[in-house]
Amino acid sequence: MFFDLIKKRRSIRKFKEKMIEEEKIELLKQAMLLTPSSKGRNPWEFILVDQRELLIKLSESKPHGSAFLAHTPLAIVVIANPNRSDVWIEDTSIATTYILLAAEALELGACWIQIRKRKYSDTIDAEEYIKNLLSIPGDRRILSMVGIGYPDENKMPRKEEDLEYNRVFFNQFGNYERISKKETI
Ligand SMILES: Cc1cc2nc3c(=O)[nH]c(=O)nc-3n(C[C@H](O)[C@H](O)[C@H](O)COP(=O)(O)O)c2cc1C
Repeated sequence: MFFDLIKKRRSIRKFKEKMIEEEKIELLKQAMLLTPSSKGRNPWEFILVDQRELLIKLSESKPHGSAFLAHTPLAIVVIANPNRSDVWIEDTSIATTYILLAAEALELGACWIQIRKRKYSDTIDAEEYIKNLLSIPGDRRILSMVGIGYPDENKMPRKEEDLEYNRVFFNQFGNYERISKKETI
């Protein structure tokens, strides 16, 4: 069930040394290609990386937050073609989210790695570093990567009592009370 799935989903950064089956790879591909995009422009492209030497190099994309990829069976690099859409950030963010949820549905663990706006070094952007590594054309952008595999860590599902309901308002900012409770308007 969808609500169990979103409560259970947590960022997983430790993985078993187990390959992801071909059928699950196919379903992950379907999930990313089912992502909605503005005006149906589908400005995304994806590279599935499962070669260890490339995963190790991808794990060095930025000083913090990508190192776990070195021990991860699969990384999906989420690429955008900004010539196809001016809202490619939104479109590729949704695609990344779909990948996270699909992984959870397939009993895999996954974690988003931010690439846009991150640096490989003082002078080189993480995007440039990855583009060089994976022969990605210069006009493309890279939003994120997702590390995926069979989880080797247990994380507690989110609890309802931990949700920050104080961030949700009705009708006016700061108003917590739902006045109109009728089924129809
Ligand atoms: C836009 C975005 C960027 C993120 N970037 C990273 C990252 O670079 N490295 C990392 O290990 N986790 C990253 N995360 C995972 C978050 O740290 C994680 O989702 C957050 O702490 C909440 O934990 P949860 O996913 O277990 O609920 C990112 C998540 C999002 C949504």
